[in-house]
Amino acid sequence: MRLGILISGRGSNFEAIANAIARRKLDAEIAIVISNRANAGGLDIARERGIPLRVIESRGMQREAYDKLVIDELRTHEVDLVCLAGFMRLLSASFVEAYPNRVVNIHPSLLPAFPGLDAQRQALEYGAKITGCTVHLVDEFLDSGPILVQSAVPVLEDDTVETLSARILAQEHAIYPKALQLIVDRRITLQGRRAVVKEEERE
Ligand code: GAR
Repeated sequence: MRLGILISGRGSNFEAIANAIARRKLDAEIAIVISNRANAGGLDIARERGIPLRVIESRGMQREAYDKLVIDELRTHEVDLVCLAGFMRLLSASFVEAYPNRVVNIHPSLLPAFPGLDAQRQALEYGAKITGCTVHLVDEFLDSGPILVQSAVPVLEDDTVETLSARILAQEHAIYPKALQLIVDRRITLQGRRAVVKEEERE
């Protein structure tokens, strides 16, 4: 399966996916990394690893026009599955239609709690005792598509946004490649908005 990874920043989830592929935990290849920001740290990770990358700046662009550029690039690289990895833009309906149930996102909360920006800060300020992260399919609404995999972490009394984010991030790096492997293995079927995961077949 050929992955197209969309980033806006640091790129640690992209790196976790690349590491899982290198360790043969994920049977896929990264066809292209696309950043909407020229200064995204994740671009250096792609350069160091010799992974094809492309910057398509989004600043000042209309959503539909921007998404068309990205779709063209994904098609050029024959991408099967689009992975949003800290890509901080909402996708248009036409993007989602171009890759139906083929766009995946990771979000740093237990959705549907705390969608949107600063999910870790939202959980801390709300006073949640448990939060976590979610890998989900993307629809045209914010952080709202079918949930594939979640992982919970405790919120500790002395947590700051930074310590809580770090605890969640470790789980993000674990569950994102796992969720992608479930898709590669065709173990997920959708029943409405429920993603049902088929048991692993035993020898
Ligand atoms: C991650 O925590 C990811 O869950 C979050 O941005 C961070 C990107 O880090 N995404 C969202 O908040 C999307 N709504 P990374 O660039 O190191 O992967």
